[in-house]
Amino acid sequence: MSTHVTPHPAVPAGEKRANADPAPIIVPMRRKHLREIRRIDKLVYPRPWSMALYLDELQRHGERVYRVACHADPAGRPGGVIGYGGFMIVAGEGHITSVAVHPECQGRGVGARLMLELHREARRIEGLEALTLEVRVSNEAAQRLYRWFGYAPVGSRTNYYRGGPGGKREDALVMWCHDIDSDEHGRQLGEIAASMGVR
Ligand SMILES: CC(C)(COP(=O)(O)OP(=O)(O)OC[C@H]1O[C@@H](n2cnc3c(N)ncnc32)[C@H](O)[C@@H]1OP(=O)(O)O)[C@@H](O)C(=O)NCCC(=O)NCCS
Repeated sequence: MSTHVTPHPAVPAGEKRANADPAPIIVPMRRKHLREIRRIDKLVYPRPWSMALYLDELQRHGERVYRVACHADPAGRPGGVIGYGGFMIVAGEGHITSVAVHPECQGRGVGARLMLELHREARRIEGLEALTLEVRVSNEAAQRLYRWFGYAPVGSRTNYYRGGPGGKREDALVMWCHDIDSDEHGRQLGEIAASMGVR
């Protein structure tokens, strides 16, 4: 298995449907979540990761951070998977490989809740000072989410994604969030958490 993981190429942002409970419980990704995660991937990505790739990712303790957003079951325990996200740690930087929310649960703050958790986890990792990601130039909802967390575009990768508008290839915007270990970023996360009603 390759040690390099190509980040998920997302399909262009589509119309949102939102009729699900928006209050997720965030838990570490485990093997038991993978079937539901892959179901989401097939709905939102043209080239979903294989089960083997996920299993390999989960074995990379210390090099990967993955979190899953679940519905709360009637007892308040984590139920069905509604989204997930994660990053890999390479040369002291965190590279977000995927953030994905079930299409029926998008636009309800689940993506933001996952990003908050990923940033909090990244701040716990000694020496990790920045997070980076690629996003389709047409994926404005994702870009708004990332900007909210402090990401800024620094460049683009031409024809990076397949399956763009009109079936053509599409450029990726490269975004970075620097100084994630700073007090200022901690305050920013605190404000985001407060606005979402998250402790
Ligand atoms: C991108 C994706 C993960 C976002 O998840 P989501 O749960 O729909 O996102 P949220 O509901 O948390 O919304 C993010 C919101 O933060 C919002 N936001 C930005 N700044 C904000 C602020 N200051 N205050 C409040 N909200 C803000 C954004 O506006 C965005 O909402 P909008 O699209 O209605 O404008 C989801 O759309 C998805 O899975 N898409 C398909 C896969 C994909 O494209 N993944 C990204 C690959 S790079």
